[in-house]
Amino acid sequence: MAVAIYPGSFDPITHGHIDIARRACKLFSKLVIAVVANPHKNPLFTLEERVKLTKQALREEGVSGIEVTSYDGLLVECARIHGADAIVRGLRANSDFEYEFQMALANRDLAPEFESVFFMTAGNYSFLASSMVKEVARYGGAVANFVPKSVEKALREKFPAK
Ligand code: PNS
Repeated sequence: MAVAIYPGSFDPITHGHIDIARRACKLFSKLVIAVVANPHKNPLFTLEERVKLTKQALREEGVSGIEVTSYDGLLVECARIHGADAIVRGLRANSDFEYEFQMALANRDLAPEFESVFFMTAGNYSFLASSMVKEVARYGGAVANFVPKSVEKALREKFPAK
């Protein structure tokens, strides 16, 4: 069975990401979550923090058998190193489509051997994005429904109550 890589910024990992990972695990013999070192966005958490939180969150949510790695450079190079056959991404709303389509085509042009596979987000997570979670946490809002406990704690440490 095929190996898949699930790349992203994971700044931080949310229940939406975990849902995609959990479902992708059922289709692939191995799933590798790959955390990008330098996302085009300015990350709140360092690379080390994002990798650690991703591992903790998966453990906490009882998702086992997923490898977590990081990469600095092209995703397709990381996919090659891990012997991946497919690149997994989640699709929430229509608004994700342009960006994901562009990325999938770029990756296919760079490395046609990898197939991009998209998972539709669960309805209850269709609004959920790391950027939104960070904004809510920044202003002291409750994020318990959006992220696992370890991530909630890490967000509280970044944005202590005033
Ligand atoms: O969670 P994100 O920020 O939407 O993930 C985007 C990511 C990290 C998957 C993408 O930007 C990426 O793979 N960047 C690494 C550089 C690369 O390979 N670029 C070419 C494909 S667009």
